[in-house]
Amino acid sequence: MGKGSGYGKVILFGEHFVVHGIPGVVSAIDSSTDVEVKKNTKLTIRDERKTAKGYSEEKKLQQIESIERMLTTMQLDPKMALDIWIGGSLPGFSGLGASAASSVAIARAITEEIGLNISNEKINAIAYEGEKAYAGNPSGIDNTAATYGGLMWFKKNPTGEQDLVEKIHVKRPIEIVIGSTGKTANTKAMVEGVAERKKKDPKKYDPLFKQAENIAAAGRKALEAGDLKKVGDLMNENHRILQEIGVSSKELDLLVDIARKQGAFGAKLTGGGGGGCMVALTGGKEVSGKIVGAFKGAGYEYLMTRIGVVT
Ligand code: PMV
Repeated sequence: MGKGSGYGKVILFGEHFVVHGIPGVVSAIDSSTDVEVKKNTKLTIRDERKTAKGYSEEKKLQQIESIERMLTTMQLDPKMALDIWIGGSLPGFSGLGASAASSVAIARAITEEIGLNISNEKINAIAYEGEKAYAGNPSGIDNTAATYGGLMWFKKNPTGEQDLVEKIHVKRPIEIVIGSTGKTANTKAMVEGVAERKKKDPKKYDPLFKQAENIAAAGRKALEAGDLKKVGDLMNENHRILQEIGVSSKELDLLVDIARKQGAFGAKLTGGGGGGCMVALTGGKEVSGKIVGAFKGAGYEYLMTRIGVVT
């Protein structure tokens, strides 16, 4: 049997903008997707992750396409008969890089099952091909975080060559709370929507992209300096820009609002938006607890975790 894992992630700065070559800040979280693979007589997938309602059904076809793409990239038969079990502590909520975490875990488990010894760099490249089934034109930020873990600065290379990836060092791990709207979002449609609107209305979108670039750079600096108040303010600004490019939703805005009222340094949607998740920077268990209490009271699921954990 082959086994593999991939980390979940939160994007602190720059989702959507990273697809267009603007740098972003991403952190792996303490939760991962775990996979076991055995050769079989037909393809079977047992997905036992805790998920938002309808998540697995909605992603099913993309999941099969993703596995076929990865097998092709590994120069294996795309219709290879495998028994694939998917589990782990990372919930299947949109926005936490669950698809990338599962792609990395599946790629690692398959290579172990067939006795291939493959570098992280190759696993990352294989998972990137798998991600295309879910995201259309992914930036690569999710699979990179899922492969390597840690907190990082990411800039897509528009020529398709090596992306820029730099580790960001923080003084200590930082507490966050993730809130889930419970709605599964279609990342591919969200990414395409932004690209279309940007093309139609460059006068509105170009300055917003410039602001996103400045926010990401300032966010990195503030993280490195341990200035959580500043990081939070920048996350709030980033959320406003994401609202302007049309990827937030009523529920995301509500959860962001609740988190800010309960004392978060800052809060924003994270990932593709249009549903999915938001992230609140709390910097400690006390505020995290208050936010979680308010989310529970309002009927939303959550995850209390940390970023900047050394991997
Ligand atoms: O919603 P998720 O977890 O798939 O994150 C998508 C992040 C985007 O920036 C919107 C797309 C990408 O490929 O970077």
